[in-house]
Amino acid sequence: MAKRTILTAGEPILRKKAKKVTSFSPVLEGLIVDMLDSMHEVDGLGLAAPQIGVLLRAIVIEMPAEFDEEGHQVTPEELYVYCNPEIIETYGEEEHEEACLSVPGYAGTITRAAQVTVKGQDAKGRRIRTKAEGLLARAFQHEIDHLNGTLFIDLVDSPEKLRHVERGSEDETLPT
Ligand code: NI
Repeated sequence: MAKRTILTAGEPILRKKAKKVTSFSPVLEGLIVDMLDSMHEVDGLGLAAPQIGVLLRAIVIEMPAEFDEEGHQVTPEELYVYCNPEIIETYGEEEHEEACLSVPGYAGTITRAAQVTVKGQDAKGRRIRTKAEGLLARAFQHEIDHLNGTLFIDLVDSPEKLRHVERGSEDETLPT
């Protein structure tokens, strides 16, 4: 499998509504491996299929492992692969900064639901469901937006909430 080029804002495909996944085939599994490879290559937290030029409703999110002050792992890395994800429940609101692999060099503060319940299918077509909060909840909302042609910059409601940020800088927000 291979890493693919991540498209950036201005590419028309990023503005289109992605199609439902209907065939849970080895081709789909190959696509998901490519999405993971492409995301790992650039140290992203999540990726949606349209970002590598495939107009299908598939997303991946990889939550990093968490460590305590002494360097002991508190929670393991967690991988979420969703086809046809849908948010079926939201709770609360939270303002937070996010960034996107398709909008390099920027981070923006936006308001999203604090908790979401997401349902969809895994790569084999089995029904799955996740209740998420915090960073994971935001990542789901961000990736599902990609499937509908929405970028986080559309949701930033004032110019002061958008800032330049360099990849690898200390105050970087992990892009999705
Ligand atoms: Ni993104």
